[in-house]
Amino acid sequence: MTADLPSVAPPRRSELDPIEIASRDEIAALQTQRLKWTLRHAYDNVGHFRDKCAALAVHPDDLRTPADLARFPFTTKDDLRRTYPFGMFAVPRERLLRLHASSGTTGKPTVVGYTERDLAIWSELVARSIRASGGKRGDLVHVAYGYGLFTGGLGAHYGAERLGCTVIPVSGGMTERQVQIIHDFKPDIIMVTPSYMLAIADEFERQGLDPRAASLKIGIHGAEPWTNALRQEIERRMAMHALDIYGLSEVMGPGVANECIETKDGLHLWEDHFYPEVIDPATGEVLPDGAVGELVFTTLTKEALPLIRYRTRDLTRLLPGTARSMRRMEKVTGRSDDMLIVRGVNLFPSQIEELILKQAALSGHYLLELSRPRQLDELAVIAELRPGATPNSAEAEAGIAAALAHDIKSLIGVSARVEIVPVGKIERSIGKARRVVDLRGKG
Ligand code: DLL
Repeated sequence: MTADLPSVAPPRRSELDPIEIASRDEIAALQTQRLKWTLRHAYDNVGHFRDKCAALAVHPDDLRTPADLARFPFTTKDDLRRTYPFGMFAVPRERLLRLHASSGTTGKPTVVGYTERDLAIWSELVARSIRASGGKRGDLVHVAYGYGLFTGGLGAHYGAERLGCTVIPVSGGMTERQVQIIHDFKPDIIMVTPSYMLAIADEFERQGLDPRAASLKIGIHGAEPWTNALRQEIERRMAMHALDIYGLSEVMGPGVANECIETKDGLHLWEDHFYPEVIDPATGEVLPDGAVGELVFTTLTKEALPLIRYRTRDLTRLLPGTARSMRRMEKVTGRSDDMLIVRGVNLFPSQIEELILKQAALSGHYLLELSRPRQLDELAVIAELRPGATPNSAEAEAGIAAALAHDIKSLIGVSARVEIVPVGKIERSIGKARRVVDLRGKG
């Protein structure tokens, strides 16, 4: 642990849900029983799933062990779009207590729904996630994820309440006020996207306040890919622990997996409620643990929207448990949709992020701009200076740009034009950051 991070006690074993530290056999037995229930529930109540099973000639009775799941059809975002808005629900609409929706970059949003029991389990899993991050009953929690149709705000909110924390429901935006509230209310924990955390850190400094002197001990960050380099940057700038929380609306919302403060070595998947698989995105074949591919989830307890083999598009790999018996997923490096192909080289924004943060003078705010001015792809990396890091000459700035361009060329294999810009130049998002502007094919 970095010496100047606050000391945070991990939860005692007696405070954990017993299943978090149960034997693998116990976890597998529970998963098998719940998989059978889910398949049956979806089959009996969702016509769209029944039709897909018929097309593959499979039936819920065909599942004897979790490995048999590989015979069942995948579910994609497209299935949710086709049945928009309520066609995938396995219970009458009147039994839903809440709807959320994810905006989606194109077309219709994806609508998700929750029964009373679904909401209770969601809160429990977010409470478990906050506890894994080092939070406990009585902590003051600042929620800066957006409230509304996005699952981040309300998901974090009810989970924190469930753990017995005092919640400050700030939502995203109004960055000046975020700083004032942190300064005056002195929260222990902040739940916010990693990119917006950086924007809040900048605002502290703009107001002449030292973010390291703030009360925060733990940041629980997710909703977008972020690297270990960005974790170090947040920990350094805020003098607090930064932990990773993962989730997606279709599968539940935040709290599908979370890092443990003991190890910070990837996210423990709450396997008693979600059955993970990693597949080869091109062939759909299930890959062994340890191999990188697309993460796929089958929900195990959801009543309103049971999802069978939902393709997340997120790329990661499954690893054995450490601080818990449940398996871990490695930090998500990117989504298959985010992969950029630049002059034939595949790259993810996160690879560039790591290299940017190797430069001491650069912050984690950046933008990748792709264009094709002369039939050839061009990549511009626009990276912002860190507050306080003002290179004393144009040559010094050019030196930083050259060093970054050199790293990108030698480690990723693409030529990039690096532009260094002053603090505040890159537009801040109040939730998920937009890292890429692709102008190719747009005149
Ligand atoms: O982002 C739920 C959430 C809210 C998770 C707050 C964590 C904290 P969606 O808007 O449906 O739901 O977006 C889900 O965001 O498939 C990933 O691509 C990405 N994502 C979420 N968490 C992480 C993470 C919420 N920790 C999509 N690391 C997912 C990397 C993440 N990517």
